[in-house]
This record gives sequence, structure tokens and C-alpha cells, in this order.
Amino acid sequence: MTDAATRPEVAPGPPPPTSTQQRYTAVAIGLHWAIALLIIGLLAVGWIMDDFIPGGPGSPKTAIIQLHKSFGITVLLLTIVRIVWRLMNPPPPEPAMPALQKFVASAVHVLLYVLMIAMPLTGWIMASAQIGQHETRFFGTFEMYVPGIATLPAETREPLAEGFEQVHHNLAWVIVGLLVLHVAGAVKHQFIDKDGLMARIAPGVFGRTAGPPDDGHGAIWAFGAAIAVFAAIVATSMATAAPPAGPVVAQEEQQAPASKAPAWTVDAAKSSLAFKFGYMGKDYEGKFPEWTAKIQLDTDAPANPDTPVDGYVRVAIPLGKVSTGQSYFDENVVQGDWFDVTKSPEAIFEVKGGVYKTSDTAYEATGVLTIKGAAHPVRLPFTLIVAGTNATMHGEVTLSRLTLGVGAGTASKGSGDAEWVADDVKVVIDVVATRQ
Ligand code: HEM
Ligand code: HEM
Repeated sequence: MTDAATRPEVAPGPPPPTSTQQRYTAVAIGLHWAIALLIIGLLAVGWIMDDFIPGGPGSPKTAIIQLHKSFGITVLLLTIVRIVWRLMNPPPPEPAMPALQKFVASAVHVLLYVLMIAMPLTGWIMASAQIGQHETRFFGTFEMYVPGIATLPAETREPLAEGFEQVHHNLAWVIVGLLVLHVAGAVKHQFIDKDGLMARIAPGVFGRTAGPPDDGHGAIWAFGAAIAVFAAIVATSMATAAPPAGPVVAQEEQQAPASKAPAWTVDAAKSSLAFKFGYMGKDYEGKFPEWTAKIQLDTDAPANPDTPVDGYVRVAIPLGKVSTGQSYFDENVVQGDWFDVTKSPEAIFEVKGGVYKTSDTAYEATGVLTIKGAAHPVRLPFTLIVAGTNATMHGEVTLSRLTLGVGAGTASKGSGDAEWVADDVKVVIDVVATRQ
């Protein structure tokens, strides 16, 4: 029996029979269902993950949020493919329907496209602005942040993250509303109008159709556009994380101190480089057990607050050796957002002729601290007591870790359950040295 023989029973009126409807191209159909499944899954996961108990890296909540973010970014990329593909391959002519219905259907489609972009984008802006949360990596590979956001100051990022969290949350309900209308329309076409519209986007499942107007063209442009956007964002994220070129060069220029001042040898066993920091409102201490110092200083010069004494100091601190006595801190502080030791293993403090002697035992060194490839001016007041050829030095300086670009992703004040680390870190230096 042929289709033609059964046709009169299905539709006596104007709507054309199922088998003569033209369907969407295979690419459009594949993208429609891939994106639909992803969005429905993301909505479900989004609401479910809200109830998980927060935990650190490796916790179930972190794992599920990372997947939510990666699949969400996938929706954004697939939507780029889909929009470019649709512009190059208009859909097959629609079945006849009243003007108002046609308008509503088109409006819902346009709004769905807007939401397919807005939903991932708002989530992604939120994730990029969040402080004290986890990095955003695409399925555990490349770091991906919305360009320009991760480098904003904490005061700007906090309200941005909160605002976009609210928008992301509200848009989820908008997309649910649109989806209800969209599915209701599809059901009406299928069971009331019986015009074969569902078969256009789900051929085989809801009946047979005529082929698409053509197989489509422009896959290179459609997928190329998404790949280009992906590559540009990965490149921007990597460039933002990479140390700027300038100060690194400065690090290499460490030779040639002009100082003729006497050299001092540090007694490592009697010297220490320690720091005090606050985590979630409690005080902790840590130390750098391994560091080397080249010190030249004329301690015999008379005190003079206006003219520096002859001297040169260069302290190299291997950041990877940091020790706080707490493995949680030691493991995390060496990571990318903190010391990032794989990219810049050492911090260098260098003073070129900038040591002022303000009284017999009081000094102030004005030097440059280079950490994570960026140079920062630092004033270090210290006391120095010289007895014969031995000198004992003690200095303390409070540094702003956020200004140094250390732990930018972790809040400096408490808010909800999020982990936070105080911005001020006190560095305490004790040196015992012998004159050469
Ligand atoms: C989040 C999930 C979904 C999204 C974002 C979505 C989005 C869209 C969009 C934007 C179009 C218009 C395609 C175009 O002409 O450019 C479309 C078409 C269509 N969708 Fe969905 N859709 C979703 C889920 C569904 C579901 C669950 C069904 C069925 C129950 C469905 C049935 C249809 C049908 C039948 C068409 C074809 C309309 C026509 O031929 O003009 N969609 N969808
Ligand atoms: C179509 C794509 C997406 C959908 C449908 C979606 C949906 C949702 C939903 C329903 C929630 C729960 C909202 C609430 O409880 O108030 C949520 C939360 C969240 N989404 Fe998405 N999302 C998408 C894409 C993204 C992307 C691309 C990212 C980041 C790259 C992201 C990051 C987040 C985060 C971090 C949360 C948790 C917010 C919190 O801290 O409570 N989402 N999402």
C-alpha cells in the first residue's frame, strides 16, 4: 500500500500531508536536539546542584558545577554554529497557519535563540567574576574566562558576580516559560493540526518527510566561527594569566651592582623569612625555609635620612618551598591563582642603593619585589645591630596579597560559606650575617 492511498484519511483540508513536508537539514536537526537536551539537562543540574553541600576542590558540588559550566559553554558554542548555519541555510517553508500563530511561533523561536546565548553568557560572566570559587576550565582543559572580567578588582567583581547570578537564575525561569510555549505549539501541530510539523525536526520519529530543500552548505563557516570564538577566548584567558614580559627582563638584569660596600654572609640556621596571614578569620603563620641573599651594605656610614648608604641587596625566595604546617595551605598556595610556581618559581626582592639609615640602628630599604613576573615597590623598615663583624637584622612589612596578584580569586572578607583569606599578609624577616 502506498502513502497516497492513506492520505485522504489524515487531512481532508488544506494542510499538506506529512510526507510532502520538507524537513530541516541534518545539521540543523542535530543541533536542535543536541542543544535542547543540553539545556534541559543544565536546567535540571542547575537546580539540583544548588542543594549540594559546598566543598573544596574535588568535592561532588565542585565537580558538578565544573560540568555545568563546561556543558553550558558548549551550548554557547553550538548556538554560534547553529545561528551561522541558519543564516546560510534558511529553514524549509512552514506549513500554512494563521498569521497570529505564525507570529507567536516565530517570536518564541527568536526569544529561544536570544536565551540560548544569554543563558550561558550570564552564567559565564558570573563564574568569571566570582571570587573564592573554582577556576573555570573547559572540561578540565583550558582556562576560559570572559575576557576582561577575571582581571577586574575584587570590589568590581563581587557585585558583578552577584548581579549576574540573579540574572542567570531569573533567565532560567524565562527559558522554562518559553519552552512550555514551544512544546505546547509542537504538540498542537502534532495532535490537533496534524500538519506534520514535528516530522520536519524529528523525521523518522514523527513521520516521514520530503528531503530538506538541499543538504545545506557553509559548515566550515558555521563550525569555524565557533572554533574561532573558542580559540580567541582561550588565548585571552592564557594571556591574562601569563606574566607580562617587562618585569621578567628586569629579573634577568640582576648583575652589575655598582656597590663597593662590604658583603655580608647570611647565617641560614639563625635567619628566617616568615609570614602571618588570616584564613576565615583565624591567624596562621608560614615560612619560606629556603632562600638566598646577596647583601652588600655600608653599616659604618653616619645616619642620614636623605641620602642612601652604599648598598645592594638581592633576596631570592623559591615560592614552591613554602611551609605553613597545614598541607591544605601548602598544596593550594603554589597553584595557578596563588604563587603559580610552575610559571614563576621564585620571588625576588632587590634593593639597588635604596637603603636609608635613619638612626644608629634604624634603616629603611626601598626596593622592588618581583613576584609572578610583576614588579612592585616595597618599603621595608628594619633594625640592624652590628657587633664587630656580626649583624642582627629584624624587619616587618605588611603586604597586600591582592595588589601582588596573589590569590585574586579568593575573597578577602567573609561572605556566606565562601573561603576567604585576609588581604594583609605580614612578612617578618630575621637575619643574622657576618661581614666578609
Ligand atoms: C531547550 C530546548 C529547545 C530549544 C532551545 C528549542 C529551540 C528551537 C528553535 C530556536 C527552533 C526554530 C528553528 C528555526 O527555524 O530556526 C525550534 C524548532 C522546533 N522545535 Fe524546538 N527547541 C527546544 C526543544 C524542543 C522540544 C522539546 C520539542 C518537541 C517536543 C521541539 C520541537 C520543535 C519543532 C517541531 C520545531 C520546528 C518548528 C518548525 O518547523 O518551524 N523543540 N526549536
Ligand atoms: C544554557 C546554558 C545554561 C543553563 C540552562 C543554566 C542553568 C542554570 C540553573 C537553572 C542554575 C540554578 C540557578 C539557581 O539555583 O538560582 C544555574 C546555576 C549556575 N550556573 Fe548555569 N546554566 C547555563 C550555563 C552556565 C554557564 C555557561 C556557566 C558558567 C560558565 C554557568 C554557571 C553557573 C553557576 C556557577 C551556577 C551556580 C550559581 C550559584 O552559585 O548558586 N551556567 N545554571
